Amino acid sequence: MPARLLSGKEPADALLASLRPKIQELSPQLVILQVGEEAVSTVYIQRKLSACQKVGMRCEHKQLPFSISFQELLEAIERLNANMDVHGIIVQLPLPPHLQHTLPLIHRALHPQKDIDGFTAYNLGKMFLGTEFEHLPPATPAGIITLFEYYKIPIAGKHAVIVGRSNIVGKPLGMMLLNRDATVTMCHSKTSLVSRYSCLADILIVAVGKPKFITKDMVKPGAVVIDVGMNRREGGLVGDVDFDAVKEVASAITPVPGGVGPMTVASLIRNCVRAKERQLPTTHSPCAG
Ligand code: GUN
Repeated sequence: MPARLLSGKEPADALLASLRPKIQELSPQLVILQVGEEAVSTVYIQRKLSACQKVGMRCEHKQLPFSISFQELLEAIERLNANMDVHGIIVQLPLPPHLQHTLPLIHRALHPQKDIDGFTAYNLGKMFLGTEFEHLPPATPAGIITLFEYYKIPIAGKHAVIVGRSNIVGKPLGMMLLNRDATVTMCHSKTSLVSRYSCLADILIVAVGKPKFITKDMVKPGAVVIDVGMNRREGGLVGDVDFDAVKEVASAITPVPGGVGPMTVASLIRNCVRAKERQLPTTHSPCAG
């Protein structure tokens, strides 16, 4: 029997609708910094801007010159940190080659309370403490967890295999699944024979950026398959999973596009609302993070 399709559109719309009253009440503002004009980044940013517009959230897209120096970028971040009317800051990735090695320092410069990507050491570290400290989790892992909740897919006691160990998706998602009592296996580029592990997965999550990397023979019958891949090919977007073949063995699968993507954007907006809430002086002490 073909797999159940886990569309991200309905849960993302439901999440955005649930955020609308808070957005009206708190009026958070997001600023997206883009260095240069990389076309793929511009597409992602447009998606974020249009979701913000749809839900009535203030969002500004600031383009900085490709040749900007590290120091100038830090100054731009510091101005946003100091601006009390900016509640969330995104530094769109990837950065130009001359800045890539500075990424940890750029993330360190972001005020953790405005880091709605959840990429700073502070917000990532808090996730180690448990679900109650996942205040600003990275948006893609958080979106995947919300997708599971929406479709009532159990996590506790399941064997989750993650393929891809990026700081943006794989590693934080592993922690979030562990926090929810999954048994987590993490595969990466140096794993010999990924299929040895993927075949054991009740939940298989793939974020490697390689079109159709996961084939039907790598999936246990009945597994839930989450495809984070977004690979641009002539015919359009292609995921990291061979969707047409894998849907014949999986019990549930996300499409590309229209699966994880909308959940990521909605989770970012949720983080911006949370960031604003946690910046209100009356609701949280400065030590609450
Ligand atoms: N580039 C691709 N995905 C992301 C993301 O989630 N956040 C940022 N800042 N840049 C990205």
